[in-house]
Amino acid sequence: MLKGKTVILGVTGSIAAYKIANLASMLIKQHAEVHVIMTQNATNFINPITFETLTNHKCLVDTFDRDFEFHVAHVNLAEQADVMLIAPASANVIGKLAGGIADDMLTTTAMACRAPILVSPAMNTNMFENPILIDNLKKLQSYGFEIIEPDTGMLACRDVGKGKMPEPDVLLGHIMHTIAKDKDLKGKKVLVTAGPTQEAIDPVRVITNHSTGKMGYAIAEDAMLRGADVTLITGPCAIEPPLFVDICPVVSAQEMYEAVDSYREVSDIIIMSAAVADYRPKTTSPDKIKKTDDEQMITLVRTTDILQSLGDKKRVGQFLCGFSMETENLLENSRKKLEKKNLDLIVANSLRTEGAGFGTDTNVITLISPEEERELPLMSKREAAACILDVIVEKMK
Ligand code: CTP
Repeated sequence: MLKGKTVILGVTGSIAAYKIANLASMLIKQHAEVHVIMTQNATNFINPITFETLTNHKCLVDTFDRDFEFHVAHVNLAEQADVMLIAPASANVIGKLAGGIADDMLTTTAMACRAPILVSPAMNTNMFENPILIDNLKKLQSYGFEIIEPDTGMLACRDVGKGKMPEPDVLLGHIMHTIAKDKDLKGKKVLVTAGPTQEAIDPVRVITNHSTGKMGYAIAEDAMLRGADVTLITGPCAIEPPLFVDICPVVSAQEMYEAVDSYREVSDIIIMSAAVADYRPKTTSPDKIKKTDDEQMITLVRTTDILQSLGDKKRVGQFLCGFSMETENLLENSRKKLEKKNLDLIVANSLRTEGAGFGTDTNVITLISPEEERELPLMSKREAAACILDVIVEKMK
């Protein structure tokens, strides 16, 4: 997802420096161009050769080293950067940046860099709580630096407290959030529902379906990367929710309906990808359960059709997208739902197509709007999410 993007990693003297090797490797796997700049102190914690091997670029430490790939290296590299991440950022380097001191390769490059700069402080809790550091971080924020909140946990000095550098996957998430996609949904409020709902039969058993939430989570993530303000209302799922998305967990269709209704009015785009259980027991009270000789009969009633209620109350300028899961007459039934539920787009999934539907990492979808139909080939759910949002952005213009 980072093809064509250049990332500068600035590594300073903190034990967490070793974790940046993993981050560099993750970025390379995302096809980013990665350059690492280390302070002299950082070389005590990890060898520059590690980064050179991973990134295939010389790791820069000394401003006066003549063996550079670039002419006036700090300026040239700073100009190429799409983002610079300083992680781990020691109290010393944070102080230098806040004070405008540029006395080594890392700080001169940061000074010359017009791209977004992310700073991940990592230090002992007492240092992190020092008012000088707090002021310096505020100052950096006021200059537009993004400060990544440190984690709380056991620190290298065996103290337990705040000051741990977040794990590399979180740092990668911040980089992605900053540069992975054009911000064509900036300023838009996007509401996504995902996963199954569960209807309790009794305290032990539920009515549910096989949805894993993968499609809805991928849509929420893609909308977030495009700069939207995303809320994800999710039924019970076993997958990690995306970063930078507000998560609202629910269980039953009624809870999902109430949660959706509370965000409905403020949302610019609503995407109902949840596989809402269509039926619920009329009652969960044991004395209402009819029993025959050897089986229990449960009276079922339909759950509220959330999407229908959204279509009925759709406000001007709001974009409403639903999904349809069909075993037969895919396009015809989906077109009927598009019209009946007053949708702007329906994503049609055939449960009979290989590689589509519940649980897989791939999907085969047809995007149906009142104006047209677009049949897409087999693709990952991530790619499908991007295609769905591409169409929504295009139609909202
Ligand atoms: N949906 C909903 N509330 C329900 C059932 C479904 O909001 N109680 C939404 C789903 O999130 C999906 C769309 O309606 O976006 C279509 O779901 P689907 O199950 O295919 O259609 P239904 O309208 O339930 O019709 P049927 O099951 O009879 O095909």
